[in-house]
Amino acid sequence: MARIALNFEDGVTRFVEAHPGETVADAAYRCRINIPMDCRDGACGTCKSFCEAGAYELGSHLDDAMTEDEARQGYVLTCQMKARSDCVIRIAATSAMCKVKPAAMAAEIEEVRRLSPSTIGVAVKMKDEVPAYLPGQYVNIGVPGSSETRSYSFSSMPKDGVVDFLVRNIPGGLMSSYLADRAAPGDALNLTGPIGSFYLRDLKRRALFLAGGTGLAPFLAMLEKLERDGASQPIHMLYGVTRDDDLVELERLGELAAVVPGFTFDTVVADERSAHPRKGFVTHHLSDETLNGGDLDIYLCGPPPMVDAVRGYLAGRNVTPSNFYCEKFSPSEQRA
Ligand SMILES: Cc1cc2nc3c(=O)[nH]c(=O)nc-3n(C[C@H](O)[C@H](O)[C@H](O)COP(=O)(O)OP(=O)(O)OC[C@H]3O[C@@H](n4cnc5c(N)ncnc54)[C@H](O)[C@@H]3O)c2cc1C
Ligand code: FES
Repeated sequence: MARIALNFEDGVTRFVEAHPGETVADAAYRCRINIPMDCRDGACGTCKSFCEAGAYELGSHLDDAMTEDEARQGYVLTCQMKARSDCVIRIAATSAMCKVKPAAMAAEIEEVRRLSPSTIGVAVKMKDEVPAYLPGQYVNIGVPGSSETRSYSFSSMPKDGVVDFLVRNIPGGLMSSYLADRAAPGDALNLTGPIGSFYLRDLKRRALFLAGGTGLAPFLAMLEKLERDGASQPIHMLYGVTRDDDLVELERLGELAAVVPGFTFDTVVADERSAHPRKGFVTHHLSDETLNGGDLDIYLCGPPPMVDAVRGYLAGRNVTPSNFYCEKFSPSEQRA
C-alpha cells in the first residue's frame, strides 16, 4: 500500500491509501474524494496534477493531455498514475470542489511545558485517530472557553498518539493566556486540519532552513522526518530570536544534528545586550557560500516582519533560490 497525500489549492491535505496497481484517482474516489476527472483515459488532461515527492509509474497518455516536458517536470495524470512509494500530489482544485470535509479531531492536553519565559511546549494526545500530516503543516486549534481558533504548526511527528506544538507566549493573547495560566493535562482540545503548503519536499539540492522564534516548530517536525528517513543533501538552519531566553529546544537540535546526515545549525540573537556570538538578524549571517548562488531550496518560517525582511534581503542581493517555501505566523486578526 502506498500512502498518498492529496494537497488541495486551499492548503487542506487528505491522505488516501492506494492498493498495488490501483491508480491514484481510483484510490481517491474509493475514499469519496472527487478529484478533477473526465475521460479517465489519459486523453483529456483534466486530472493533471503535480507530484512533489515519491516514485510512480506515469501510465499511458496522449501528448494533448500532458506533454513529455510536463512529465519530466513532475506533472502526472492521476487517472493513469500508479504509486510505487508514498507520494505527495498537488491537486489543482480546492478541497470544497473535491467534496472534502474539514477533518475535526478530538484531543486532550497531555503536558504543558514552560520552555522559557516566552515559549510554551504543548504535548497533545489524540483521542482517536492520529492525524496524518506532512512535516511543516499546521492545524487550527479551538481556544478552550471561546469560539475562536488559532493556528499552530506541528513541532514533531506523531509518537504514540501524541503530537507536539511550540507556542510563543504573547502577554494578553487569547491562546497564550489560556496555555500560560489555565491549561492542565486532560483539558479537551479540538483540532482541524492538517493544512498548509509549507512542508518538506524531496531534497534534490542543498537546503537552507530559516526559522524566526517559534517558527522553529515546523522545522523540528521536518527534521524528525529526516531523522527517520535520512537526508540526501546538506541542510543548514539559521534560527533567529529576539532575546537570549527565546532560544529553545537547543538540546533537541543538537541531537538532530548528530543523527540527520548533513544537518548543521546556528543560532542568532537580535538583542544588542546579548553576549551571543552571532548577533543581529538571520540575514546578517547569510554568506555567499550559504546562498550558493541561488542553487538551493529555502524554507522560511516566522513572524511576518521576519519573513518580509528575509524576502526583501534576498531580492536586494538578487538571489533567486531554486525553490522558496514560506510560512508566516500572522496574527489571527490579520487573516480574516
Ligand atoms: C499558519 C500559521 C501557523 C502558526 N503556527 C504557530 C506556531 O507553531 N507557534 C506559534 O507560537 N504561533 C503560531 N502561529 C501564530 C498563532 O496562530 C497565533 O496567532 C499566536 O499564537 C497568538 O495567539 P494568541 O491567541 O495568544 O494571541 P491573540 O489573542 O491572537 O493576539 C493578542 C495580541 O498579540 C498580537 N499578536 C498575535 N500574534 C502575534 C505575532 N506573531 N507577533 C506579534 N504580535 C502578535 C495580536 O495582534 C494581538 O494584539 C501561526 C499562525 C499561522 C497563520
Ligand atoms: S481524466 Fe482525462 S486525462 Fe485523466
